Amino acid sequence: MSGARICETDGCGKESRLQCPTCIKLSIDGSYFCSQDCFKANWAVHKAVHKKQRMKDHMAKENANPWPGYVYSGPLRPHIVSPKREVLPEIDKPDYASDVKGYPASEMAVRGSTQIKVLSSEEIEILRETCRLGREVLDIAYSAVKVGVTTDEIDQIVHDACMERNCYPSPLNYHQFPKSCCTSVNEVICHGIPDGRPLEDGDIVNIDITVYYKGFHGDLNETFFVGKVDEGSKNLVKVAYDCLMQAIDEVRPGVRYRELGNTIMKHAQTNGCSVVRTYCGHGIHRLFHTAPNVPHYAKNKAIGVMKPGHVFTIEPMISAGTWKDRTWPDNWTAVTEDGKRSAQFEHTLVVTETGCEILTIRPEQNRRGHFLDQLDKENA
Ligand code: MF3
Ligand code: CO
Ligand code: CO
Repeated sequence: MSGARICETDGCGKESRLQCPTCIKLSIDGSYFCSQDCFKANWAVHKAVHKKQRMKDHMAKENANPWPGYVYSGPLRPHIVSPKREVLPEIDKPDYASDVKGYPASEMAVRGSTQIKVLSSEEIEILRETCRLGREVLDIAYSAVKVGVTTDEIDQIVHDACMERNCYPSPLNYHQFPKSCCTSVNEVICHGIPDGRPLEDGDIVNIDITVYYKGFHGDLNETFFVGKVDEGSKNLVKVAYDCLMQAIDEVRPGVRYRELGNTIMKHAQTNGCSVVRTYCGHGIHRLFHTAPNVPHYAKNKAIGVMKPGHVFTIEPMISAGTWKDRTWPDNWTAVTEDGKRSAQFEHTLVVTETGCEILTIRPEQNRRGHFLDQLDKENA
């Protein structure tokens, strides 16, 4: 291309020979302005063009391999992670939010203790609200799941939905976790970092949301289908969902926490799947992760008996092949050792006099996750 260009400013129409120097550096075609004034007036809008190009360039580089020599267990690769998102100053934050090391001091102070907090009815009422907001955020995230959408875009949607609800996104800066939710694709078991990878037809993606509101955390996750998913993956996801629901059915006062793993593992193995051992359910309230520890595998030695007012999560991670996990060099992303897929569902529950209340359930369709609707839609 040669000759005079038309100024980029909307409605300006003047001929221009002045090209944006940053665009020249980044080899972006176009971006001519008739004058310094027009250039300046356009800057706020125009600089987005640079950001987009830098992102593209970085991704092209990153895609080569950010960890030279690292042998991946499956086909998934990391992509670029966007800068840390800002939290509105008026939002109430947990202790680790502003710590350089992301250290949860209040949680660490009781680390190793097996004492399980009994929450008052006032505290449970707040937790209900917290968990309802977490549920809303997950539902909004789900509606964004589509072929071509990046997990970073989902993280932005989650972050904004938290801000709109006066919630702090609990994962953000927790032990320095860099994003506002976890997105775990295909062979990722849990703690996947949202990044620039566009979701592909046939992927499964788990979105794990935790929000902090009025001093309490509420934690839930679901695994979703992206486009048309193969039968093996559908089975895996259904088994993971049924494992969680069967375990929830066991929850009532007097039951030992160690019992849940027996139910979960039996259902998983009967259906040809395995149970991840490294990551467990957990107590949750004013602290994100605390007693009790709730393993999902059989014959575990978990301590504690369920009592009314106990609040905890069940979040079985079910794998199609081996139960063994590995962690990527980012020190977060947990993947299966054989590269086969893994699926997970999570709820936060409170033990009641007769059983339990699922605090993170969808209000309208009792107990049903989105993915059951997805299955129904496909089978219709
Ligand atoms: N939400 C996860 C859980 O279910 C924890 C995420 S911690 C993070 O326990 F740091 F990875 F975000
Ligand atoms: Co959890
Ligand atoms: Co979670």
